Amino acid sequence: MKPRDSFSGRFGIIAAAAGSAIGLGNIWRFPYICGQNGGGAFVLLYLVCVVLIGLPVLLSEFSVGRRAQSNAYRAFKILSPGTRWYSIGIMGIVAAFMILSFYSAVGGWTIEYIFRSIFSTISDHPKEQFNGFITGSYKPILYQLIFLFLSLGIVVMGVKKGIERSSKILMPLLLILLVILCVRSVTLPGASAGLTFLLKPDFSKLTGDSVLLAMGQAFFSLSIGMGCMITYGSYVKRDEDLTYAAGMIAGADTFIAVLAGIAIFPAAAAFGISPDSGAGLVFITLPSMFLQMPGGMIFSACFFILLCIAALTSTISLLEVIVSFCVEEMHIKRWKATVLVTFSVFALGILCSLSLGIAPGLKLFGKNFFDLMDFTSSNILLPAGGFLISLYVGRVLKKRIMAKELLTGGGTRKFRYLRIFFFLIRYVVPVAILIIFFSGLFRG
Ligand code: TRP
Repeated sequence: MKPRDSFSGRFGIIAAAAGSAIGLGNIWRFPYICGQNGGGAFVLLYLVCVVLIGLPVLLSEFSVGRRAQSNAYRAFKILSPGTRWYSIGIMGIVAAFMILSFYSAVGGWTIEYIFRSIFSTISDHPKEQFNGFITGSYKPILYQLIFLFLSLGIVVMGVKKGIERSSKILMPLLLILLVILCVRSVTLPGASAGLTFLLKPDFSKLTGDSVLLAMGQAFFSLSIGMGCMITYGSYVKRDEDLTYAAGMIAGADTFIAVLAGIAIFPAAAAFGISPDSGAGLVFITLPSMFLQMPGGMIFSACFFILLCIAALTSTISLLEVIVSFCVEEMHIKRWKATVLVTFSVFALGILCSLSLGIAPGLKLFGKNFFDLMDFTSSNILLPAGGFLISLYVGRVLKKRIMAKELLTGGGTRKFRYLRIFFFLIRYVVPVAILIIFFSGLFRG
């Protein structure tokens, strides 16, 4: 077998994995879920979930991937032959399809907003305009298809060229632009109510399933629980420090989400937009602000272009999970697999798009198809995957193997660190997931 492609150096893996983690989850999903769950208190819950559950699972996925040098499905077959742990990989593929179906729909929305900014066709009723757009018939689907074609192009080109190159320059640019938007947002008249909403925890505003949603958001935002980071881990060089990489990635991901919140909630308060406006929150609030900024349409175009690229780098990581499975396990040619997967995703994606508008009857368990895919993947499949990975790494995989993966490149970091890690992965992670899962599902 030819050696696997690997990322070049420390910055390569951090940039690529951060490119996967940072995406619509931070800028579109985090603010809208946070807005529906009372603001500050949700942010706190989210942070706790990232540190106590997200980080250990991320480290576990990286370690398993690097150790096995393979995709998520095969990794478990290599490390524990004859067992059924590879089911984690299969669950991950199902989750990837579900996520891609609604993710590509929202990716399409960003493209529509790029055009609207360039042609200055953002109306001064952003809410009506947004709702009119997503409930339309063919337009959202057309843009979704364009978005998927862009991702397809990148995946066909292969790991190094596509993923690494696009992440390195553009993510820092997105960060800079977000900071500018934050400054504008908090200096708007009437902005302080929004800042209070975001930063001052009010626990009475949490609802029954807020904890479940916070945990699901942590999984979603860090791209964990379905083997994506196992595949990425397999591209990391032997002597890299995985702990450092995981810490940087989780830090950057969380920082971007909080910045997105600071850019959005104060502006929403200033323009009288309710924080619980749902999936349209970003697409309604920021255009309202752009309309009043000097050179606003330029900012708007830059913002939506960068958001679209952030969404693309995440999409390709999801596609990569399915494609590398098809290539390495089913021996389909890479370009064929990519085309096949993209079109299957598109088929499912059409249902998501239509369920928001002209086909409101596409409902299951009281949720439209879009929300159903979102809820099931983030709040059920990903935590279930995380639970299994924590059991595997904490109880099945030899401790020595994990210790080696966790300590290489880490200088003097030693046993106290291992003790904390194993305590989290053996007890805290699985128990917390179980409790949150069942209390959330039954109350929610
Ligand atoms: N984390 C990405 C975002 O926040 C989405 C994503 C990419 C993802 N790969 C994933 C989510 C794997 C869950 C699992 O936009």
